[in-house]
Amino acid sequence: MSRLAGKVAIVTGGARGTGAGIVEAFVEAGATVIIADVLDDRGQVTAVATNSAYRHLDVTDEAAWIALVDHVRSVHGRLDVLVNNAAILHLQALVDTSVEDFDRVLRVNTIGPFLGIKACLPLLIDSGGGSIVNIGSVDSISGTPCTSAYTSSKFALRGLTKVVAIEHGKHNIRCNIVCPGGGSAEMVMEAFARTGAAFPAGEAARREVSVDSGAKVPPPDRPIARRGTAADFAMAAVYFASDESSFCSGTELVIDGGFHSGQFVDVPGLWMRQ
Ligand SMILES: NC(=O)c1ccc[n+]([C@@H]2O[C@H](COP(=O)([O-])OP(=O)(O)OC[C@H]3O[C@@H](n4cnc5c(N)ncnc54)[C@H](O)[C@@H]3O)[C@@H](O)[C@H]2O)c1
Repeated sequence: MSRLAGKVAIVTGGARGTGAGIVEAFVEAGATVIIADVLDDRGQVTAVATNSAYRHLDVTDEAAWIALVDHVRSVHGRLDVLVNNAAILHLQALVDTSVEDFDRVLRVNTIGPFLGIKACLPLLIDSGGGSIVNIGSVDSISGTPCTSAYTSSKFALRGLTKVVAIEHGKHNIRCNIVCPGGGSAEMVMEAFARTGAAFPAGEAARREVSVDSGAKVPPPDRPIARRGTAADFAMAAVYFASDESSFCSGTELVIDGGFHSGQFVDVPGLWMRQ
């Protein structure tokens, strides 16, 4: 496949999880990929495994963004795609969430992409245009309990997507957002470990682990009764990064097994058991 042949892409948070899946799919599609993450050991391993490059980057550090873009300009001479995938999750009831935790989440999940877009725009423009792919969440569309910071950050990222699309269409730059209904269990378990006592019953964490490990699968809560995989979300990023989506900007693609289609309730005897 060569859907991304000749394109140079930065993928933040590409060391593991959905980001690593995006890196793999991009390389498979012919792109040259630079993983930018804070998980250096894991990032190096993923880079070797996927035939991509790794650079340390804290997405909240504006100077580091500028240095990364300078590096990409000097080594590759161009940039075609920026994937803002890096994020953190904080699970806690709103009344227990400190302003420090709220701020920490917004810094990574919203200000990080803002800084990345700002730093990458000059090189994207010099390259004749490009595609910015933000990775949001179903929490960019609706809320989930105990995610006041995370849901706020992901709604804001969806808003940022629209503004970038409007302001930079004139530069042949498109900006879209993928909204996964699922991702790596590591993100959820790390958040749960941080504030587990405040999270109601730990149901979401149990579900993440049981489904990812292939153990007992809980009752379906969505029409497509399985957990989304990195590959499900990565192919949406490939589409938005490729020229196939050249008329597509400022839009969101929700990939959640139909979770947001409407009420998923049984009407006994009429359809669920048919
Ligand atoms: N895990 C889920 O259930 C879920 C659900 C919906 C959407 N998402 C979204 O999918 C995307 C990928 O998440 P994931 O599920 O693969 O989780 P993950 O925790 O496995 O991956 C996130 C990556 O971001 C990196 N990162 C965190 N802070 C960073 C920083 N300051 N600078 C640079 N890199 C940083 C991490 O090191 C990690 O490699 C995220 O945007 C997340 O919000 C995840």
